[in-house]
Formats: sequence, C-alpha cells, structure tokens
Amino acid sequence: MSELSFPANFQWGVATSSYQIEGAAQTDGRGPSIWDTYSHTPGKVANGDTGDVACDHYNRLESDLDLIASLGVDAYRFSIAWPRVQPLGYGAWNEAGLAFYDRLVDGLRARGIAAHVTLYHWDLPQALQDIGGWEARATAHHFAEYARVMALRLAGRVASICTHNEPWCTAVLGNELGRFAPGLSDRAVMLRVAHHLLLSHGLALQAIRASGVTTPLGIVLNQSPATPATASAADKAKAVREYAAFVRWYMDPLFLQQYPQHPDLPLPDVIQADDMAIISQPLDFLGINYYTRSWCSSATPPVPAPCAMGVSDMGWENYPQGLTELLCQLHQDYRLPPVFITENGIACADTVVDGRVDDAPRIAYMASHLQALQAAMAAGVDVRGFFYWSLMDNFEWDSGYDKRFGLFHVDYSTLQRTAKDSANWYTALIAQQRKG
Ligand code: FCB
Repeated sequence: MSELSFPANFQWGVATSSYQIEGAAQTDGRGPSIWDTYSHTPGKVANGDTGDVACDHYNRLESDLDLIASLGVDAYRFSIAWPRVQPLGYGAWNEAGLAFYDRLVDGLRARGIAAHVTLYHWDLPQALQDIGGWEARATAHHFAEYARVMALRLAGRVASICTHNEPWCTAVLGNELGRFAPGLSDRAVMLRVAHHLLLSHGLALQAIRASGVTTPLGIVLNQSPATPATASAADKAKAVREYAAFVRWYMDPLFLQQYPQHPDLPLPDVIQADDMAIISQPLDFLGINYYTRSWCSSATPPVPAPCAMGVSDMGWENYPQGLTELLCQLHQDYRLPPVFITENGIACADTVVDGRVDDAPRIAYMASHLQALQAAMAAGVDVRGFFYWSLMDNFEWDSGYDKRFGLFHVDYSTLQRTAKDSANWYTALIAQQRKG
C-alpha cells in the first residue's frame, strides 16, 4: 500500500448496476426488462438464478447508503433501471421509480458522496425488445428521450452521466454469442445493435446538451490489450483482429468518426449519412472497465495464457500490467478526455468464517492494479478516479450468484452484508491517500 500515491483530488469509488442489486422486480410499477425474461428462461443462468430479489437494494436503500459511506469513498457509480422509470421504454413515466432514484441521489449527497449515473447497464425494457430492441433504429431515439428526461431530473445533483455501460457486451454477448439477454446468435444483428448503441449515445449527448444540462457526459467501455500468444504471424493477426473488434470498434467511431477497417469485420448495414458525426460528440470523460487482457492463440488447442499472477474465480487471468499497456496505447492513439476506471475487480470464492471474510487475493488484485494505474498516470494518462467493482456480491449475469466480486459479502439466504478484509483495506488505503 505504501508504494501507492495518487493525487489528492483523485476520486475513490465503488460501482454497482441496477439489475444486479436492486431486486423488487415487480414493485411500484417497474416494467419487465430483457434480463427478467432471459433469467426466467430455463437454462440461461447458472442455477436458474434471477434478479427478482438480488441484494434487495431497492428495499434496503438507506442501510446500503450507510454501507457505501462506511467505506469512506468519494464516489458511487450506479445505473438506472430504464423499465423502473419508464416501464415500456417509451410513453408514460413511472413517478414511483423516479422517486427511488431521487432518494438514492439525495441520500448520497447527504453523505457527501458524488453520484455517477449510468443510464444503460443492460436492462432494456422488454416492450422495446418486442419491437426490435437495439436492432431497431427507433430504440436509439427512445433512448435519447429517456436520457434527456433523466438528465433534466438529475442535473445539479449528480457528478456525471454516462450513456452506456460496455456496448460490446450488449452487442456481442447479447446478440451474437447468445450468452446474455436477449440471447440472440446472429452476427448481422450484432453489427446493427452495436451501431445503434453508438448512435443512441450520440443522440443522447445531443439531446441532453440541447436541454441546457451541463453535467459532465461520457460513455463506459470494457477494454483489454490483445496479446499474441506467440510471435507467429497467425497469433499476431488474431491479436490485431481482436483489438479491432473489442476496442477500436467503439473507440474509432467515438474519437475518429469512422469504424476500423479489417477484412474480417464488415460494416453494419444500417449506417445513415450523419450517423458518424452524431456518434462522435465531444466526451467530457471516458470510463474504462478493465479486468484482464485478451490472450490470442490461433493454435488448436489454444496456447494457454501464462496466468503468472493467478486467475479469478471467473477464469480470467490476473494481468495488472495490461491496464498500463491499454491506457498508454489509448493515450497514443486518441485524444482522450479525462479517464475514469469505472470498473476493476475480481471474483473470489469468498466465505464468512467466524464473522470474517479473508479475501487476500482480492487485496492483491486491487493493489497490483492500482500500481499499474499509477504507472499509466506517470506516463501521462489523465486518470481522475477509480471505482472498484463491486460494492457487494451480486447477480453476476449468466453466472448468477455464484461469482462474488463484492467488498461486502452477501448471504443470499438472509441478505446480510459482511465487510470482507478487502473493504477494510480499501478504507485504509483511501484514508492514507487523503493524508498524502
Ligand atoms: C462487467 C459488467 C459488470 C460486472 C462485471 C464483472 O462486464 O459491467 O456488470 O458483471 O463485468
């Protein structure tokens, strides 16, 4: 910990998302989302888990706000469940749902914690999926209207608004690989979805700014450097393709107003004349979620990643240097706005023993990634904050409740929260960094 030294105004935070923690899926007029439908479809999520109850955050808001405050963080990143505030994704607004986010934002303010809002963390209103979902251009316009209304409601009370969380996941995992809601497996659909997500981001920024809101606006992308497993031409080519599909497919339209060119990556067939200009609105910040690197082997079976620093319970290689490599590469390739690490964390098979959770591997993961972040900052990358994923154990999408990323352990039979050793470590780190 002693080797870590961040600027005094660096923001320390934790992150969550609506479907993963809120529960109360049918409470106070919330409409169904694609994740309700998907998780209730047999065979889609481990153990048949759903987000119906999740961490019951909706009903435990005040005590969860106290939990966040107990960490001593400056900032909290959360998402709004679109179907909670606008059940169909168009038309009528749900005042009870809006009031929940008012209470959340005001509760953070009362505790001196900056609110960082994400508008879309994957829980699309099912009614919109029923009329085409993100494959339909109209969804991008519905999203811009939702973004405008939420921004006007929250302006002056929140520190930042981000449009999308990880559009790659929505597009590829949801529509090409069929692993996430809505569970489609169609490459052409994936390309249209990815384009409409980016378009909706640009339309939302235009709509929010046109309404006079001056809150900083941005987007959150999941990114990894791509490492060829060997020096072979095939592995190198695989890494180039991977980086183009994963990182550049989103960064180039946002920053360079064009898609990357790669023989294996056809352009979406739905691009209209002004789309690229709409997508490339100026960003006030860029959020980056980093977990691991992309290891690229073209051999059969693939050459395994070295995993010299271990592997998470998700099976992801711990590779902290990747964060330095990625940030330095991006800094070289684009004119970046201020960057926030909006997610970074590790799943461990944590258990409570005599009231304590010994999660030394999480502490090692955090410390090594913060060191890697510090190295990127020393090399000139303008990073303003770090959000650990996640505040507490929660619904980890297709893995259900099996994978535990939290600083707080959640006992899903009692919903009791227990601080893990990493929570105490993070609190001590933040206090130490403030003292300078
Ligand atoms: C990211 C997601 C987040 C969480 C972490 C582990 O891809 O944004 O919701 O599932 O992974």
